[in-house]
Amino acid sequence: MPAVYDLANRGLLPPGFSLIGFARRSWADEDFASEVYAAVKEHSRTPFREEVWQQLVQGCRFVEGDFDDDEAFDTLKTTIEELDKAQGTGGNFAFYLSVPPKFFPKVVQQLKKHGLADQKEGSWRRAVIEKPFGHNLASAQELNRIVHEVFPPEEVFRIDHYLGKETVQNILALRFANTLFEPIWNRSFVDHVQITMAEDIGIGGRAGYYDGIGAARDVIQNHLLQLLALTAMEEPASFDADALVAEKTKVLGAVRLPKDLGKETVRGQYAHGWQGGEEVVGYLEEDGIDAKSKTDTYAAIKLEIDNRRWAGVPFYLRTGKRLGRRVTEIAVVFQRAPHSPFDHTATEELGQNALVIRVQPDEGVTMRFGSKVPGTSMEVRDVSMDFAYGESFTESSPEAYERLILDVLLGDANLFPRLTEVELSWRILDPIEEYWDKHGKPAQYPAGTWGPVEADEMLARDGRSWRRP
Ligand code: BG6
Repeated sequence: MPAVYDLANRGLLPPGFSLIGFARRSWADEDFASEVYAAVKEHSRTPFREEVWQQLVQGCRFVEGDFDDDEAFDTLKTTIEELDKAQGTGGNFAFYLSVPPKFFPKVVQQLKKHGLADQKEGSWRRAVIEKPFGHNLASAQELNRIVHEVFPPEEVFRIDHYLGKETVQNILALRFANTLFEPIWNRSFVDHVQITMAEDIGIGGRAGYYDGIGAARDVIQNHLLQLLALTAMEEPASFDADALVAEKTKVLGAVRLPKDLGKETVRGQYAHGWQGGEEVVGYLEEDGIDAKSKTDTYAAIKLEIDNRRWAGVPFYLRTGKRLGRRVTEIAVVFQRAPHSPFDHTATEELGQNALVIRVQPDEGVTMRFGSKVPGTSMEVRDVSMDFAYGESFTESSPEAYERLILDVLLGDANLFPRLTEVELSWRILDPIEEYWDKHGKPAQYPAGTWGPVEADEMLARDGRSWRRP
């Protein structure tokens, strides 16, 4: 909702833009509008302007119903048709399915049954589907079959909001608009890559969605594997959707799972602990969670990429809820210098060179390298060189959803994963989930820490350690 408002505020929505909420609660249009108003007031990125809001609220409607309710879908249809006429939206409708994944098939079938998805000459009907797309490969393929019975492939937009983030799009600019990094972006110079998405929050009110899905399906299958693909892929011939997808699928197809899934993957579940000075409950004590749940709230996996550029370079991916702080970053860690002319004591505080793409918060890029400590002796210590968005640009970054919602309306599919990418990602994750299903349960970690000790041990066995961002 805030993203929709921000688009309107930036003059990027047509004046007739309308927004219809569909849900079970018994709300009048005004209730829905006041909910949107509160969200916009609290979370929009751009300043609140009464005249923009007044324009937006004119097209706000609410339809009450559940997904089995045919009458409700009829009402939805009438509401859409009335608004279409009154607001002049030209018969262009996007259906945004921000619903629990198990309802995706039902909802698209209802849209078809009630004639809402019929494509008409000169206008469009699109479906926007929030991740995760399926819960494994088979269900993703089945879901795709159902969706495509209703919407043609070019009208289906699978959302992975990480692709809408400026800092994620900047990975391609950093790599392919510069000469500096690409020559060392390979196995001859890179020791390993760490991709971290850490959150300090718990599951909040999302028990119904999260339990049974877990961290790996919620985040690794989509956001983190997309970050891996952008970091590791070859240069695309151009930046159109086909060229990008071709490179991303090549690299995702070359990903190799570790041989020993017991040692080279770790899952965890947060236990009671302290976060930001507040005592917080463990996952199993959260409202709506089965006390015996084996759902992972933390997952770490080691992957390799079987191609000439990356052979032998591990990519460590980790994500978790209730970790030390909220941070998403990609750290490309370089090999140590092949020879050091300095005394061992002079370089005790010298780590490995690293290039860190700070996805959020504090967006930017850090380069870490050694520098002489001022003084009479030769001592070398790590320093860093920083690029911060806030300092280099006066423009503030649009939120991911502003970009993605606008792209849906424009029909631009560049930043939306294609089915092949989704399938390849499930091919990577499925064997891990199957292994976890059969073996033991997640290791507990106290809320507010950096995850289970098993994850530290996993890297220690390789002679490495996780960064503490
Ligand atoms: C969503 C996940 O895709 O991303 C959530 O379902 C997670 O569990 C969220 O909290 C994090 O998004 P961001 O943009 O705050 O990193």
